[in-house]
Amino acid sequence: MTTLTPISTQPRAMSLPHPSPVQDRDVYQALLEQPLANRELGRDYLERQLARAQDLPCDLPKDARELSAWVIAGAKRTTAAYNQYLTRRKQGQPRRYFANRSHALYFIHAVAPTKLVDGAWLHGVLPRWYDARFQGLARTYLEELGDGNPAQNHVVLYKKLLASHGCEDTSMLSDAHFTQGALQLVLGTLAEDYLPEVIGYNLGYEQLPLHLLITAFELSELDIDPYYFQLHVTIDNASTGHAHKAAQAVLDNLPVIGDAEAFYRRVALGYRLNDLGLGTTAVIEAFDLERELLAMFERKRETAGMVHSDFCRIEGRTVNEWLSRPGQIGEFLGALETRGWIRRHQDPAESRFWQLVQGDRAVMFGVFSPYEQQLLHDWIAGDWLAAQVRPKGPQGRTNFRQWRRPGLALGNAAPGEAVAGSEFDRELTALKAELQGCSDPERLARLIELMAPALHSTPPGLLATRLFRELTQ
Ligand SMILES: [Fe+2]
Ligand SMILES: [Fe+2]
Repeated sequence: MTTLTPISTQPRAMSLPHPSPVQDRDVYQALLEQPLANRELGRDYLERQLARAQDLPCDLPKDARELSAWVIAGAKRTTAAYNQYLTRRKQGQPRRYFANRSHALYFIHAVAPTKLVDGAWLHGVLPRWYDARFQGLARTYLEELGDGNPAQNHVVLYKKLLASHGCEDTSMLSDAHFTQGALQLVLGTLAEDYLPEVIGYNLGYEQLPLHLLITAFELSELDIDPYYFQLHVTIDNASTGHAHKAAQAVLDNLPVIGDAEAFYRRVALGYRLNDLGLGTTAVIEAFDLERELLAMFERKRETAGMVHSDFCRIEGRTVNEWLSRPGQIGEFLGALETRGWIRRHQDPAESRFWQLVQGDRAVMFGVFSPYEQQLLHDWIAGDWLAAQVRPKGPQGRTNFRQWRRPGLALGNAAPGEAVAGSEFDRELTALKAELQGCSDPERLARLIELMAPALHSTPPGLLATRLFRELTQ
Protein backbone atom coordinates (compact mmCIF):
# COMPACT_ATOMS: atom_id res chain seq x y z
CA MET A 1 0.00 0.00 0.00
CA THR A 2 1.25 3.47 -0.84
CA THR A 3 1.72 5.68 2.16
CA LEU A 4 2.07 9.41 2.18
CA THR A 5 5.66 10.45 2.69
CA PRO A 6 5.68 12.34 5.97
CA ILE A 7 6.51 16.00 5.53
CA SER A 8 9.36 16.45 7.94
CA THR A 9 9.42 19.59 9.98
CA GLN A 10 12.46 18.46 11.92
CA PRO A 11 15.67 20.51 11.66
CA ARG A 12 17.75 19.54 8.68
CA ALA A 13 21.30 20.27 7.73
CA MET A 14 20.04 22.43 4.86
CA SER A 15 18.39 25.09 7.03
CA LEU A 16 19.49 28.61 6.17
CA PRO A 17 22.88 29.65 7.54
CA HIS A 18 22.41 31.63 10.71
CA PRO A 19 22.48 34.57 11.44
CA SER A 20 22.68 35.72 7.85
CA PRO A 21 21.16 36.12 5.32
CA VAL A 22 18.23 37.74 7.09
CA GLN A 23 16.43 39.66 4.39
CA ASP A 24 12.65 39.64 4.72
CA ARG A 25 12.27 37.50 1.61
CA ASP A 26 14.78 34.93 2.90
CA VAL A 27 13.04 34.71 6.25
CA TYR A 28 9.69 34.36 4.49
CA GLN A 29 10.92 31.54 2.29
CA ALA A 30 12.79 29.75 5.09
CA LEU A 31 9.87 29.89 7.52
CA LEU A 32 7.42 28.82 4.86
CA GLU A 33 9.43 25.84 3.69
CA GLN A 34 11.03 24.62 6.92
CA PRO A 35 9.57 26.45 9.90
CA LEU A 36 11.05 24.36 12.68
CA ALA A 37 14.52 24.17 11.16
CA ASN A 38 14.57 27.96 10.93
CA ARG A 39 13.17 28.90 14.32
CA GLU A 40 16.31 30.74 15.43
CA LEU A 41 16.51 32.68 12.20
CA GLY A 42 12.89 33.65 12.76
CA ARG A 43 13.53 34.60 16.37
CA ASP A 44 16.35 36.98 15.42
CA TYR A 45 14.19 38.52 12.75
CA LEU A 46 11.23 38.94 15.09
CA GLU A 47 13.35 40.54 17.80
CA ARG A 48 14.64 43.09 15.30
CA GLN A 49 11.13 43.86 14.09
CA LEU A 50 9.83 44.19 17.66
CA ALA A 51 12.59 46.72 18.37
CA ARG A 52 11.45 48.71 15.32
CA ALA A 53 7.81 48.50 16.44
CA GLN A 54 8.70 50.07 19.82
CA ASP A 55 9.04 53.43 18.09
CA LEU A 56 5.64 53.32 16.39
CA PRO A 57 2.53 55.05 17.76
CA CYS A 58 -0.15 52.86 19.37
CA ASP A 59 -3.87 53.66 19.49
CA LEU A 60 -4.95 50.79 21.74
CA PRO A 61 -6.90 51.73 24.88
CA LYS A 62 -4.81 51.88 28.06
CA ASP A 63 -7.11 49.39 29.75
CA ALA A 64 -7.62 46.02 28.04
CA ARG A 65 -11.19 45.91 29.38
CA GLU A 66 -12.05 48.71 26.95
CA LEU A 67 -11.00 46.67 23.92
CA SER A 68 -14.45 45.44 22.92
CA ALA A 69 -15.80 48.98 22.84
CA TRP A 70 -12.65 50.08 21.00
CA VAL A 71 -13.28 47.45 18.29
CA ILE A 72 -16.90 48.55 17.83
CA ALA A 73 -15.94 52.25 17.73
CA GLY A 74 -13.21 51.55 15.15
CA ALA A 75 -15.65 49.61 12.93
CA LYS A 76 -18.17 52.47 13.18
CA ARG A 77 -15.55 55.01 12.13
CA THR A 78 -14.58 52.83 9.19
CA THR A 79 -18.15 52.36 7.96
CA ALA A 80 -18.86 56.10 8.36
CA ALA A 81 -15.76 56.93 6.31
CA TYR A 82 -16.81 54.35 3.72
CA ASN A 83 -20.28 55.88 3.46
CA GLN A 84 -18.66 59.25 2.87
CA TYR A 85 -16.55 57.69 0.15
CA LEU A 86 -19.65 56.17 -1.50
CA THR A 87 -21.47 59.51 -1.38
CA ARG A 88 -18.55 61.25 -3.07
CA ARG A 89 -18.36 58.56 -5.71
CA LYS A 90 -22.09 58.98 -6.40
CA GLN A 91 -21.43 62.68 -6.81
CA GLY A 92 -18.99 61.84 -9.57
CA GLN A 93 -15.60 61.72 -7.85
CA PRO A 94 -13.11 59.34 -9.48
CA ARG A 95 -11.91 56.10 -7.89
CA ARG A 96 -9.73 56.80 -4.86
CA TYR A 97 -7.30 53.90 -5.25
CA PHE A 98 -7.08 52.48 -8.74
CA ALA A 99 -6.71 54.69 -11.79
CA ASN A 100 -7.22 51.70 -14.09
CA ARG A 101 -7.25 47.89 -14.17
CA SER A 102 -3.48 47.54 -14.39
CA HIS A 103 -3.16 49.64 -11.23
CA ALA A 104 -5.53 47.27 -9.43
CA LEU A 105 -3.73 44.17 -10.73
CA TYR A 106 -0.42 45.68 -9.65
CA PHE A 107 -1.87 45.95 -6.14
CA ILE A 108 -3.17 42.37 -6.14
CA HIS A 109 0.28 41.20 -7.23
CA ALA A 110 2.23 43.38 -4.78
CA VAL A 111 0.35 42.17 -1.70
CA ALA A 112 0.55 38.51 -2.76
CA PRO A 113 3.35 37.53 -0.32
CA THR A 114 1.11 38.59 2.59
CA LYS A 115 -2.13 37.15 1.24
CA LEU A 116 -0.55 33.80 0.39
CA VAL A 117 0.13 33.18 4.08
CA ASP A 118 -3.17 34.60 5.31
CA GLY A 119 -3.79 33.46 8.88
CA ALA A 120 -0.26 32.03 9.32
CA TRP A 121 0.35 33.86 12.62
CA LEU A 122 -2.26 31.64 14.29
CA HIS A 123 -0.95 28.22 13.27
CA GLY A 124 0.96 27.93 16.53
CA VAL A 125 -2.19 28.03 18.68
CA LEU A 126 -3.68 24.90 17.10
CA PRO A 127 -1.97 22.45 19.49
CA ARG A 128 -3.90 24.25 22.29
CA TRP A 129 -7.27 23.92 20.53
CA TYR A 130 -8.81 22.27 23.65
CA ASP A 131 -8.00 25.24 25.91
CA ALA A 132 -10.91 27.70 26.17
CA ARG A 133 -8.49 30.65 26.07
CA PHE A 134 -7.50 29.79 22.50
CA GLN A 135 -10.75 28.56 21.03
CA GLY A 136 -11.57 31.89 19.38
CA LEU A 137 -8.11 32.07 17.81
CA ALA A 138 -8.22 28.44 16.66
CA ARG A 139 -11.67 29.08 15.13
CA THR A 140 -10.27 32.15 13.36
CA TYR A 141 -7.44 30.03 11.92
CA LEU A 142 -9.89 27.36 10.75
CA GLU A 143 -12.00 30.03 9.07
CA GLU A 144 -8.92 31.42 7.30
CA LEU A 145 -8.52 27.85 6.03
CA GLY A 146 -12.18 27.72 5.01
CA ASP A 147 -12.63 24.74 7.36
CA GLY A 148 -10.95 22.73 4.61
CA ASN A 149 -13.38 23.77 1.87
CA PRO A 150 -11.27 25.03 -1.07
CA ALA A 151 -14.00 27.48 -2.08
CA GLN A 152 -13.58 29.18 1.29
CA ASN A 153 -9.86 28.70 1.96
CA HIS A 154 -8.37 32.20 1.80
CA VAL A 155 -5.05 31.10 0.36
CA VAL A 156 -6.71 28.96 -2.32
CA LEU A 157 -8.92 31.92 -3.22
CA TYR A 158 -5.95 34.26 -3.50
CA LYS A 159 -3.93 31.79 -5.57
CA LYS A 160 -6.83 31.55 -8.00
CA LEU A 161 -7.14 35.32 -8.17
CA LEU A 162 -3.42 35.65 -8.96
CA ALA A 163 -3.51 32.87 -11.53
CA SER A 164 -6.54 34.30 -13.35
CA HIS A 165 -4.49 37.44 -14.12
CA GLY A 166 -1.05 35.87 -14.54
CA CYS A 167 0.26 37.54 -11.37
CA GLU A 168 1.76 34.48 -9.64
CA ASP A 169 5.44 35.35 -10.02
CA THR A 170 6.57 37.38 -6.99
CA SER A 171 10.30 37.20 -7.74
CA MET A 172 10.46 40.85 -8.85
CA LEU A 173 8.92 42.22 -5.64
CA SER A 174 11.12 44.04 -3.12
CA ASP A 175 12.04 42.83 0.37
CA ALA A 176 9.58 45.26 1.93
CA HIS A 177 6.78 43.40 0.17
CA PHE A 178 7.69 40.31 2.23
CA THR A 179 7.89 41.94 5.68
CA GLN A 180 4.31 41.30 6.75
CA GLY A 181 4.29 37.74 5.40
CA ALA A 182 7.60 36.98 7.12
CA LEU A 183 6.24 38.33 10.42
CA GLN A 184 3.11 36.23 10.09
CA LEU A 185 5.11 33.07 9.46
CA VAL A 186 7.52 33.75 12.33
CA LEU A 187 4.70 34.46 14.79
CA GLY A 188 2.94 31.25 13.72
CA THR A 189 6.12 29.26 14.32
CA LEU A 190 7.12 30.85 17.64
CA ALA A 191 3.74 31.13 19.38
CA GLU A 192 5.09 29.18 22.38
CA ASP A 193 7.54 32.01 23.10
CA TYR A 194 5.65 35.01 21.75
CA LEU A 195 2.03 34.35 22.66
CA PRO A 196 1.17 37.94 23.74
CA GLU A 197 2.72 39.28 20.51
CA VAL A 198 0.70 36.76 18.45
CA ILE A 199 -2.49 37.86 20.21
CA GLY A 200 -1.60 41.52 19.68
CA TYR A 201 -0.72 41.03 16.01
CA ASN A 202 -4.01 39.20 15.50
CA LEU A 203 -5.87 42.06 17.17
CA GLY A 204 -4.43 44.54 14.67
CA TYR A 205 -4.75 42.38 11.58
CA GLU A 206 -8.37 41.42 12.14
CA GLN A 207 -9.80 44.95 12.47
CA LEU A 208 -11.92 46.18 9.59
CA PRO A 209 -9.87 48.72 7.65
CA LEU A 210 -11.31 51.32 5.31
CA HIS A 211 -8.97 50.23 2.54
CA LEU A 212 -10.57 46.77 2.47
CA LEU A 213 -14.01 48.22 1.75
CA ILE A 214 -12.75 50.62 -0.90
CA THR A 215 -10.60 47.94 -2.52
CA ALA A 216 -13.55 45.53 -2.81
CA PHE A 217 -15.72 48.27 -4.30
CA GLU A 218 -13.19 49.48 -6.85
CA LEU A 219 -12.11 45.99 -7.92
CA SER A 220 -15.71 45.13 -8.69
CA GLU A 221 -16.01 48.38 -10.61
CA LEU A 222 -12.95 47.41 -12.65
CA ASP A 223 -14.39 43.98 -13.46
CA ILE A 224 -11.90 42.17 -11.21
CA ASP A 225 -13.26 39.54 -8.85
CA PRO A 226 -13.44 41.22 -5.41
CA TYR A 227 -14.60 38.09 -3.58
CA TYR A 228 -11.42 37.62 -1.53
CA PHE A 229 -11.74 41.17 -0.19
CA GLN A 230 -15.52 41.08 0.26
CA LEU A 231 -15.17 37.87 2.24
CA HIS A 232 -12.96 39.66 4.75
CA VAL A 233 -15.45 42.47 5.18
CA THR A 234 -17.95 39.97 6.57
CA ILE A 235 -15.72 37.38 8.23
CA ASP A 236 -13.70 39.94 10.19
CA ASN A 237 -16.79 41.81 11.49
CA ALA A 238 -16.72 43.55 14.83
CA SER A 239 -19.76 42.02 16.50
CA THR A 240 -19.15 38.28 16.12
CA GLY A 241 -16.32 37.92 13.58
CA HIS A 242 -12.55 37.81 13.78
CA ALA A 243 -12.25 41.39 15.06
CA HIS A 244 -14.47 40.56 18.03
CA LYS A 245 -12.73 37.23 18.69
CA ALA A 246 -9.37 39.01 18.56
CA ALA A 247 -10.33 41.41 21.36
CA GLN A 248 -11.85 38.58 23.37
CA ALA A 249 -8.60 36.59 23.05
CA VAL A 250 -6.70 39.41 24.77
CA LEU A 251 -9.11 39.36 27.70
CA ASP A 252 -9.17 35.55 27.89
CA ASN A 253 -5.41 35.45 28.13
CA LEU A 254 -4.75 38.26 30.59
CA PRO A 255 -2.82 36.52 33.36
CA VAL A 256 -4.56 36.00 36.68
CA ILE A 257 -1.21 35.32 38.29
CA GLY A 258 1.67 37.47 37.17
CA ASP A 259 2.05 40.86 35.59
CA ALA A 260 -1.05 41.58 33.50
CA GLU A 261 0.29 45.00 32.56
CA ALA A 262 3.50 43.54 31.16
CA PHE A 263 1.41 41.02 29.21
CA TYR A 264 -0.72 43.80 27.73
CA ARG A 265 2.39 45.84 26.87
CA ARG A 266 3.62 42.87 24.83
CA VAL A 267 0.17 42.58 23.18
CA ALA A 268 0.46 46.25 22.21
CA LEU A 269 3.91 45.68 20.76
CA GLY A 270 2.66 42.74 18.67
CA TYR A 271 -0.24 44.94 17.55
CA ARG A 272 2.21 47.52 16.20
CA LEU A 273 3.99 44.90 14.07
CA ASN A 274 1.06 45.39 11.68
CA ASP A 275 2.48 48.79 10.74
CA LEU A 276 5.88 47.53 9.56
CA GLY A 277 6.73 46.96 5.90
CA LEU A 278 4.55 48.25 3.09
CA GLY A 279 0.97 49.06 4.00
CA THR A 280 -1.93 48.81 1.56
CA THR A 281 -2.09 52.49 0.71
CA ALA A 282 1.72 52.71 0.31
CA VAL A 283 1.57 49.81 -2.17
CA ILE A 284 -1.25 51.48 -4.10
CA GLU A 285 0.53 54.84 -4.22
CA ALA A 286 3.75 53.25 -5.47
CA PHE A 287 2.21 52.32 -8.82
CA ASP A 288 3.77 53.98 -11.87
CA LEU A 289 2.29 52.63 -15.10
CA GLU A 290 5.20 53.55 -17.35
CA ARG A 291 7.81 52.19 -14.95
CA GLU A 292 5.91 48.90 -14.61
CA LEU A 293 5.51 48.67 -18.37
CA LEU A 294 9.22 49.23 -19.02
CA ALA A 295 10.20 46.75 -16.29
CA MET A 296 7.84 44.18 -17.80
CA PHE A 297 9.34 44.62 -21.28
CA GLU A 298 12.87 44.39 -19.82
CA ARG A 299 11.99 41.04 -18.24
CA LYS A 300 10.49 39.86 -21.52
CA ARG A 301 13.52 41.10 -23.42
CA GLU A 302 15.80 38.74 -21.52
CA THR A 303 13.90 35.73 -22.83
CA ALA A 304 12.86 37.10 -26.21
CA GLY A 305 16.33 37.82 -27.59
CA MET A 306 16.75 36.93 -31.24
CA VAL A 307 13.37 35.22 -31.68
CA HIS A 308 12.02 37.94 -33.94
CA SER A 309 12.59 37.93 -37.68
CA ASP A 310 14.81 40.64 -39.14
CA PHE A 311 12.23 41.33 -41.84
CA CYS A 312 10.91 44.48 -40.23
CA ARG A 313 13.01 47.52 -39.29
CA ILE A 314 11.77 50.22 -36.92
CA GLU A 315 13.69 53.50 -37.15
CA GLY A 316 16.55 51.70 -38.86
CA ARG A 317 16.94 48.85 -36.39
CA THR A 318 15.55 45.31 -36.40
CA VAL A 319 13.44 44.19 -33.43
CA ASN A 320 16.27 41.85 -32.41
CA GLU A 321 18.65 44.81 -32.37
CA TRP A 322 16.23 46.85 -30.26
CA LEU A 323 15.98 43.98 -27.79
CA SER A 324 19.66 43.05 -27.78
CA ARG A 325 20.71 45.39 -24.97
CA PRO A 326 19.07 46.48 -21.71
CA GLY A 327 17.77 50.02 -21.30
CA GLN A 328 16.46 50.51 -24.86
CA ILE A 329 12.80 49.66 -24.30
CA GLY A 330 11.66 53.24 -23.72
CA GLU A 331 13.32 54.36 -26.93
CA PHE A 332 11.90 51.35 -28.79
CA LEU A 333 8.35 52.15 -27.67
CA GLY A 334 8.96 55.77 -28.73
CA ALA A 335 10.05 54.53 -32.16
CA LEU A 336 6.93 52.36 -32.45
CA GLU A 337 4.88 55.45 -31.65
CA THR A 338 6.73 57.59 -34.21
CA ARG A 339 6.23 54.97 -36.92
CA GLY A 340 2.51 54.71 -36.12
CA TRP A 341 2.57 51.18 -34.69
CA ILE A 342 1.33 52.56 -31.41
CA ARG A 343 -1.32 55.29 -31.25
CA ARG A 344 -1.43 56.51 -27.72
CA HIS A 345 -4.50 58.03 -26.04
CA GLN A 346 -6.83 56.21 -28.39
CA ASP A 347 -8.67 52.90 -28.27
CA PRO A 348 -5.79 50.35 -28.28
CA ALA A 349 -7.71 48.34 -30.91
CA GLU A 350 -6.57 51.04 -33.36
CA SER A 351 -2.88 50.34 -32.67
CA ARG A 352 -1.19 47.83 -34.94
CA PHE A 353 1.21 46.83 -32.18
CA TRP A 354 -1.71 45.99 -29.87
CA GLN A 355 -3.23 43.84 -32.61
CA LEU A 356 -0.03 41.78 -32.62
CA VAL A 357 -0.38 41.15 -28.89
CA GLN A 358 -4.06 40.62 -28.27
CA GLY A 359 -6.57 38.23 -29.77
CA ASP A 360 -6.57 34.54 -30.68
CA ARG A 361 -4.91 35.14 -34.04
CA ALA A 362 -2.41 37.70 -32.81
CA VAL A 363 1.19 36.95 -33.83
CA MET A 364 2.34 37.29 -30.24
CA PHE A 365 -0.62 35.40 -28.77
CA GLY A 366 0.32 33.91 -25.40
CA VAL A 367 3.51 35.94 -25.04
CA PHE A 368 2.02 38.34 -22.49
CA SER A 369 0.06 37.38 -19.38
CA PRO A 370 -3.30 39.07 -18.75
CA TYR A 371 -1.62 41.49 -16.31
CA GLU A 372 1.15 42.30 -18.80
CA GLN A 373 -1.42 42.86 -21.52
CA GLN A 374 -3.34 45.13 -19.20
CA LEU A 375 -0.24 47.25 -18.56
CA LEU A 376 0.30 47.69 -22.28
CA HIS A 377 -3.39 48.30 -22.93
CA ASP A 378 -3.70 50.98 -20.26
CA TRP A 379 -0.46 52.68 -21.30
CA ILE A 380 -1.56 52.88 -24.95
CA ALA A 381 -5.09 53.93 -23.99
CA GLY A 382 -3.85 56.75 -21.71
CA ASP A 383 -6.30 59.67 -21.64
CA TRP A 384 -8.77 57.78 -23.82
CA LEU A 385 -9.29 55.31 -20.99
CA ALA A 386 -10.22 58.01 -18.50
CA ALA A 387 -12.96 59.18 -20.84
CA GLN A 388 -14.64 55.74 -20.97
CA VAL A 389 -17.79 55.27 -18.92
CA ARG A 390 -16.92 51.69 -18.04
CA PRO A 391 -13.40 50.37 -17.58
CA LYS A 392 -12.45 48.16 -20.46
CA GLY A 393 -10.06 45.24 -20.26
CA PRO A 394 -7.91 43.74 -23.00
CA GLN A 395 -10.74 41.42 -23.94
CA GLY A 396 -13.03 44.38 -24.33
CA ARG A 397 -15.12 43.35 -21.35
CA THR A 398 -17.53 46.04 -20.33
CA ASN A 399 -20.13 44.07 -18.41
CA PHE A 400 -20.06 43.42 -14.69
CA ARG A 401 -20.14 39.80 -13.70
CA GLN A 402 -22.06 38.41 -10.82
CA TRP A 403 -19.32 37.95 -8.27
CA ARG A 404 -21.27 36.50 -5.43
CA ARG A 405 -21.21 32.88 -6.51
CA PRO A 406 -17.63 32.02 -5.66
CA GLY A 407 -18.00 28.27 -6.08
CA LEU A 408 -19.03 28.66 -9.69
CA ALA A 409 -17.08 31.79 -10.50
CA LEU A 410 -13.85 30.29 -9.24
CA GLY A 411 -14.45 26.82 -10.59
CA ASN A 412 -14.30 25.15 -7.19
CA ALA A 413 -15.94 21.82 -6.74
CA ALA A 414 -17.19 20.97 -3.30
CA PRO A 415 -14.59 19.00 -1.36
CA GLY A 416 -15.08 15.42 -2.42
CA GLU A 417 -14.05 12.23 -0.76
CA ALA A 418 -11.00 10.44 -2.09
CA VAL A 419 -11.83 7.78 -4.66
CA ALA A 420 -9.77 4.70 -3.90
CA GLY A 421 -7.37 3.92 -6.73
CA SER A 422 -7.74 7.23 -8.56
CA GLU A 423 -4.45 8.89 -9.44
CA PHE A 424 -6.07 12.25 -8.67
CA ASP A 425 -6.73 11.27 -5.08
CA ARG A 426 -3.71 9.12 -4.36
CA GLU A 427 -2.38 11.48 -1.68
CA LEU A 428 -5.72 11.63 0.09
CA THR A 429 -6.13 7.86 0.13
CA ALA A 430 -2.59 7.54 1.49
CA LEU A 431 -3.22 10.13 4.19
CA LYS A 432 -6.35 8.35 5.35
CA ALA A 433 -4.45 5.05 5.53
CA GLU A 434 -1.61 6.69 7.43
CA LEU A 435 -3.99 8.23 9.97
CA GLN A 436 -5.73 4.92 10.64
CA GLY A 437 -2.53 3.60 12.13
CA CYS A 438 -2.08 6.57 14.48
CA SER A 439 -3.08 7.10 18.09
CA ASP A 440 -5.32 10.12 18.74
CA PRO A 441 -2.45 12.46 19.77
CA GLU A 442 -0.36 11.32 16.78
CA ARG A 443 -3.30 11.87 14.46
CA LEU A 444 -3.88 15.41 15.73
CA ALA A 445 -0.18 16.24 15.52
CA ARG A 446 -0.08 15.00 11.93
CA LEU A 447 -3.19 17.00 10.98
CA ILE A 448 -1.77 20.16 12.56
CA GLU A 449 1.47 19.61 10.65
CA LEU A 450 -0.51 19.44 7.39
CA MET A 451 -2.40 22.61 8.33
CA ALA A 452 0.81 24.66 8.27
CA PRO A 453 0.79 27.83 6.10
CA ALA A 454 2.65 26.17 3.22
CA LEU A 455 0.45 23.06 3.19
CA HIS A 456 -3.12 23.82 4.21
CA SER A 457 -4.19 24.90 0.72
CA THR A 458 -3.01 21.62 -0.85
CA PRO A 459 -5.42 18.66 -1.17
CA PRO A 460 -3.88 16.82 1.85
CA GLY A 461 -3.90 20.08 3.83
CA LEU A 462 -7.55 20.70 3.02
CA LEU A 463 -8.47 17.14 3.98
CA ALA A 464 -6.42 17.47 7.18
CA THR A 465 -8.33 20.65 8.04
CA ARG A 466 -11.68 18.94 7.56
CA LEU A 467 -10.60 15.98 9.68
CA PHE A 468 -9.17 18.26 12.38
CA ARG A 469 -12.45 20.11 12.55
CA GLU A 470 -14.43 16.86 12.85
CA LEU A 471 -12.16 15.63 15.65
CA THR A 472 -12.06 18.82 17.68
CA GLN A 473 -15.37 20.63 17.29
FE1 LIG B 1 -8.17 35.88 5.66
FE1 LIG C 1 -9.70 37.26 9.43
